[in-house]
Amino acid sequence: MELQLEVVTKSYKNKQVLKEITLIMGVGVYGLLGPNGAGKTTMIRILADVLRPTKGSILYDRKDIHAVGDEYRAKIGYLPQDVSFYGDFTGRDYLEYSAALKGMEKTHAKKRIEELAYSVGLLDDLNRKCTAYSGGMQRRLGIAQALLDDPEILILDEPTSGLDPYERIKFRNIISAYAKDRLVLLSTHIVSDVEQIAAQIMMMEYGTIQHIHPGGEYIRMMEGRVWLVEMPAEQLVSYQNQAVISNVRAKGDCMEVRIIEDAKPTSNAVQAVPTLEDAYLYLFNYLPQKAGR
Ligand SMILES: Nc1ncnc2c1ncn2[C@@H]1O[C@H](COP(=O)(O)OP(=O)(O)O)[C@@H](O)[C@H]1O
Ligand SMILES: [Mg+2]
Repeated sequence: MELQLEVVTKSYKNKQVLKEITLIMGVGVYGLLGPNGAGKTTMIRILADVLRPTKGSILYDRKDIHAVGDEYRAKIGYLPQDVSFYGDFTGRDYLEYSAALKGMEKTHAKKRIEELAYSVGLLDDLNRKCTAYSGGMQRRLGIAQALLDDPEILILDEPTSGLDPYERIKFRNIISAYAKDRLVLLSTHIVSDVEQIAAQIMMMEYGTIQHIHPGGEYIRMMEGRVWLVEMPAEQLVSYQNQAVISNVRAKGDCMEVRIIEDAKPTSNAVQAVPTLEDAYLYLFNYLPQKAGR
């Protein structure tokens, strides 16, 4: 199985929000990381075939998805970034309705709904109205919807937003098991969502995919670039404006500062074991003056 983007560009008026993206994905989990406004949702909506690119094409097993249309859409499960629920629908109604739209046979759909409600932890809430669900429950309902007919391609836009740490871990386990023989693409701005499970991690910014590597490669790249430095709190205030700082914690009457820098920043700096989050900050050059954009 192969899903391919060929020089895909999307513009709104004169603004290019996706710039000539060329990419091939196969079986496995693909994590799409990037700051807000990077273009993740735009790329995902194009792959889910709810948005047309301005230029370029998307090929599924070498066939243009716009030429095959319904046949492609039948193979994908899609969780949009924002889902709104109908006033009177219970969780079960919503899933049954989604199953009907996907053309699933009724008995099979009922069984699958029970199974999925169990695995996303909503079995006891299926008969409650989804408008009364918490944000995290609505997100889990959306994930169940996307998985209903065992899609070959699963596309999830910020699936973990609103999930608590336990729900996040559960989600990762479900996705990991699911992706054994399928393609899963998920966007997030939370590094730890994909760190463990993604075979490939894409870093996106300004409408382009700047990097695509397995997680381990990012970490290797960061070796010798992450430092722990102890300094008094007053010094930290001025230091903050010149270095990428990935963490700060109190240590005695000092601060232990985790600094990302190519060269040893101070004589007392010691090397730290890098993480994917360090790589994210390094590659997106999160200097304080750049942050907050
Ligand atoms: N319908 C639209 N009209 C105009 N600009 C849009 C529209 N949708 C998205 N954008 C712009 O495209 C850029 C990428 O947005 P988006 O794909 O939502 O990024 P992300 O999901 O990474 O936060 C942003 O600058 C956003 O403002
Ligand atoms: Mg988005």
